[in-house]
Amino acid sequence: MKASQGEAPGKCILFGEHAVVYGYPALAAAIEMGSFCQIAPNSQEGISWNFSNFATSLKWSITDDIPDSSFAHFLYCLQKLAQDFSIEINNLEITISSHLWSNSGLGSSASSASAFIKAINNYYSLELTLDQLNEYTLYMEGFIHGTPSGLDNSTVNYGGVIHFQKGIVRNLDKFSPIPILIVDSGIAHDTKEAIIRVKDLFTEDPNKITNIFENISSICEQGILAIKSDNLEILGALMNKNHKLLQELNLSTPKIEEIRWIGDQTGIFGSKITGAGLGGAIIAVGSPQSLDLFQDKLNHQKIPSILTWIKPN
Ligand code: PMV
Repeated sequence: MKASQGEAPGKCILFGEHAVVYGYPALAAAIEMGSFCQIAPNSQEGISWNFSNFATSLKWSITDDIPDSSFAHFLYCLQKLAQDFSIEINNLEITISSHLWSNSGLGSSASSASAFIKAINNYYSLELTLDQLNEYTLYMEGFIHGTPSGLDNSTVNYGGVIHFQKGIVRNLDKFSPIPILIVDSGIAHDTKEAIIRVKDLFTEDPNKITNIFENISSICEQGILAIKSDNLEILGALMNKNHKLLQELNLSTPKIEEIRWIGDQTGIFGSKITGAGLGGAIIAVGSPQSLDLFQDKLNHQKIPSILTWIKPN
């Protein structure tokens, strides 16, 4: 067997996080940063797993009992692939790494999972279809997030910008690349916790929260029009509106608001939480000049950020 690789992008959510869990639409985009997996034959018995970002090396074989580990979903998926495709899996060296900030809403878990499945697919020539790749990625995501909407795995696998609702994915095409600044609030977030908090609010006052979700849904549909007409000013204004609704769901933090305030001083068009909130990343759109200025100001405060482009697939 020859060594094989797999890679997958990360993602950011332009509009519709949380509402998407309740069946409303969301708009998300693949980003240039991503994850990588290398698989090589191992001279030793068993499977060596290296999770580079976590400086963790493990040794599990395919027949091991399911271990109690935050990396166990990689083994579960390998066991499932071995069963589904009747392949014998042994003596592998698997290395997984990611350039994405973890627990920040940039899809590091879905991206690493997709890169891993692609590398297995290449190593054993499984000829997985894109839809199968996406199903196995969602299977892995289930162990991390409980009941994921399917948005993260669909974005990292189908790429470009996607409109997602209840598992149906539509790629947006024919729009000009959008400059975007992704900022790290420095606070790792817990997606499960954020989802539970929103669920509690929903149980307390279903009418109020349904109204918020409906507004987010309308913003999402307007966002598609803004992207298709290359209108970044409207796109930014819509991000501000979506962010305000996420604030009403108690998902923002003082640090996020401080970062957005710095952005507002530089003439950007808008910014918002991307992903579950309670920390994690913030995205901003504006002219390339205003985003450069925003990034300069963040650099002075040692706040990490990445200037990138969102493009059609
Ligand atoms: O894990 P994150 O931060 O990318 O959040 C995912 C987006 C949610 O809508 C909060 C959850 C989901 O499954 O769609």
